[in-house]
Amino acid sequence: MIKLVEPEEFLKILKERRTIRCFKDEMISDKELNMILEAGQWAPTASNKQTWKFIVIKNKEIINKLAKTAIYGKFVREAPVVVAIIGFVHDNPNWYIQDTSLASMNMMLMAWVLNIGTCWIGSMDREKAKEIIGINKDDFLLTILPFGYLRKKVPNPPPRKDLDEISEVIE
Ligand SMILES: Cc1cc2nc3c(=O)[nH]c(=O)nc-3n(C[C@H](O)[C@H](O)[C@H](O)COP(=O)(O)O)c2cc1C
Repeated sequence: MIKLVEPEEFLKILKERRTIRCFKDEMISDKELNMILEAGQWAPTASNKQTWKFIVIKNKEIINKLAKTAIYGKFVREAPVVVAIIGFVHDNPNWYIQDTSLASMNMMLMAWVLNIGTCWIGSMDREKAKEIIGINKDDFLLTILPFGYLRKKVPNPPPRKDLDEISEVIE
């Protein structure tokens, strides 16, 4: 079997990825942005439906408005670009949350290896944010991911529960 990357190196990347909440006022490159979007595009989806849309927002006025809809995420206003992750509920009523979540995770990991920070924004006024972006009322806005180069050093890792506590082996 072909080894794509060293497994230890891959695990190290997964462990070292951090949520970033401070961004430089500098646009990331088109190449980097495309790689982040492609990482989302290649996430798995139930029955390979891909019933989603990734909306790239570079307009500062809209980003500022979106930042205000975030309850724990006013820092979104610092980001030069925000990607809204939308799932089409009617086309995929059972799996839209899972599918869009996996796309978001792929994007966050891709950003990390590009030295670009991001943060999953979960707490927000979704209806207001949808209105600002112009998303259909019936569609699901999973999150808005702010992307930008890091303005401060990488924060210390928030602790994880012990593997013994969160896992179990049935032999
Ligand atoms: C579903 C979900 C929702 C989150 N919502 C927010 C949020 O609204 N604001 C925020 O600052 N961080 C948010 N986070 C980031 C978490 O706080 C962060 O992932 C966690 O503290 C672990 O830190 P780490 O990502 O650096 O390992 C969210 C993360 C997830 C997975």
